[in-house]
Amino acid sequence: MYKLPVSYGHSSHAIHAGEPDSDPCRAHVAPIYQTSTFGFADVEQGKRFFSGEEQGYVYTRWKNPTIEVIQNKLAALEGMDLRNQAPPGEWVEVAGMAFSSGMAAISTLLFSIMRPGDTIITHGSLYGGTTELIEKILPEMQIHHQLVHLNGSDQLEQAISKASKPTVLYVETPANPTLSMCDIAQASEIAHAHGLKVVVDNTFATPILQQPLSLGADFVVHSTTKYINGHGSAVGGMVVTRELDFSANQLWRHMERMGSNPSPFDAWLINQGIKTLALRVERHCSNALAVAKWLEEHPAVEYVIYPGLEHNPYHELAKRQMKGFGGMLSFELKGGLEAGIAVMNNVQMCTLAVSLGTVDTLISHPASMTHAGVSPEERQEYGITDGLVRMSIGIEEADDIIHDLDRGMTRISETAVSAT
Ligand SMILES: Cc1ncc(COP(=O)(O)O)c(C=O)c1O
Repeated sequence: MYKLPVSYGHSSHAIHAGEPDSDPCRAHVAPIYQTSTFGFADVEQGKRFFSGEEQGYVYTRWKNPTIEVIQNKLAALEGMDLRNQAPPGEWVEVAGMAFSSGMAAISTLLFSIMRPGDTIITHGSLYGGTTELIEKILPEMQIHHQLVHLNGSDQLEQAISKASKPTVLYVETPANPTLSMCDIAQASEIAHAHGLKVVVDNTFATPILQQPLSLGADFVVHSTTKYINGHGSAVGGMVVTRELDFSANQLWRHMERMGSNPSPFDAWLINQGIKTLALRVERHCSNALAVAKWLEEHPAVEYVIYPGLEHNPYHELAKRQMKGFGGMLSFELKGGLEAGIAVMNNVQMCTLAVSLGTVDTLISHPASMTHAGVSPEERQEYGITDGLVRMSIGIEEADDIIHDLDRGMTRISETAVSAT
């Protein structure tokens, strides 16, 4: 649990929150406690730790100082806007719990909230792994799901009233890979009126651009593998919530019994990444807008999906709900899948890879990669078309990213000319 000081900004929290203030060696960078277990002073202390009479470190699957640093840091960042809603002088208390991956965070949270017979309400365009968890794994435990288009409040009301034992509204906004968005405040109000808990995957936006807890969500989940780490050097996940008792008891028990904790080394790498998050996100956003505008003008491009473009259907919502439009964009070429493959095979600086949020630009093909496990019918229905190309725009110079794409595009024209 992290108590937020009142006056810090994003970068100060990202750099200082959760850092130990009394290291015995006065280490400047929080050290890695790369240990599985911790010694007790004597048997009596061991007994006190196990009974809960005294707090301390016992075993890394339970608790580890390096992992606690990132838990407190993400809690500080996700709780920042809540400070403005708190009565003067009152502390805002937010808890973070770190996991071995984004999927570990999502699955452990859902397992700790949901019971057989419950229904999760969600939408069609989600990270493919989350869709598979909800559509293939949860039903094996008699946990049902109902998909809904989240941009209509009537549809959400209807879906909730038709569902049997609806307990969770699960939202990804902006969503992977279509960048469709949900009004978190409106959806939370409807969900809460019916007693549902609201979970928001904030991986694409990061707390720098959007803080769902202050908009009414109960839980925020992250794949810290992405922007939070930022350098593609670790896999991790996080749950952040104001429900402190739930986090310390139910969620913690599921985490430590299921063994979905991260390693101290990954936590350390993630902590190094978080410190520059605010700066990186600023550059991701400005680069993505420049690339989106360039793509939009290109004769080979059918359409570009980026919330920062004025004609994007979510532009107004993004302006209201987010502090920037993010670093992710998708586009479809006039030549469809074949043209998309030609571009992806011909870029040189951009890396053809899944994942996102790294300092370098990544380009991928959702239909055959991240969303291959989602049925073709569902992909089509939710806009994950076969020709859709997804880009995670990095923090290189925008002109260099554009030049690289231009090279890929020129190859399509050459291929088209040689085929005629
Ligand atoms: C939005 C989103 N949520 C969750 C995940 C899963 O995260 P991880 O790969 O760290 O398990 C991903 C992975 O791409 C993602 O894009």
